[in-house]
Amino acid sequence: MTERKRVAILISGRGSNMEALIHAAEASDYPAEIVGVLSNKADAGGLAVAAAAGITTAVRSHRDFATRDDFDAALDGVLRGWAAEIVCLAGFMRLLTPGFVEKWEGRMLNIHPSLLPAYRDLHTHERALADGVSEHGCTVHFVTAGLDEGPTILQARVPVLPGDTATSLQARVLVEEHRIYPQALALVARGDVRP
Ligand code: GRF
Repeated sequence: MTERKRVAILISGRGSNMEALIHAAEASDYPAEIVGVLSNKADAGGLAVAAAAGITTAVRSHRDFATRDDFDAALDGVLRGWAAEIVCLAGFMRLLTPGFVEKWEGRMLNIHPSLLPAYRDLHTHERALADGVSEHGCTVHFVTAGLDEGPTILQARVPVLPGDTATSLQARVLVEEHRIYPQALALVARGDVRP
């Protein structure tokens, strides 16, 4: 098969989406390989999961850098050291500078737990429930300078059910996140979707 795209994943926490991407990339016909997982938190649970899968990990704490530009330059250095071609944000909880985003524009993806453009930013499940919507879901999109604003690659919908709590709704959405993020990365890695 043609060469697989080299993908780095940025995380801050448990990394269940990261794990879904790692698992997908274990298939020999998947068009991407995961070459490294980078966290801004040394205690991110996903780091151990990645290491157990034999994947290189790195930590760069934003607290060690005086400015956002310095931090993002450090991230960029790690990514270039891995010769990453595509970056997947997977629960990475830092805002990236416009300069960093520009460098990776068209090659950086994010997963967000809402049907964008609805419910950008945090607490999406709580806000959807408060609004009484009948459908919720998740979106994989290209990252642009605006928070949760870039072009959509894939979305998945779930029903909001009677008696749902933020926890039950989040769990239903997360199943779909794990399904569509690997699909979206495959589309981008194959060049089937461009921003
Ligand atoms: C997911 O809900 C993702 O959509 C959002 O942050 C959460 C990360 O979860 N961006 P995990 O670390 O992938 O388990």
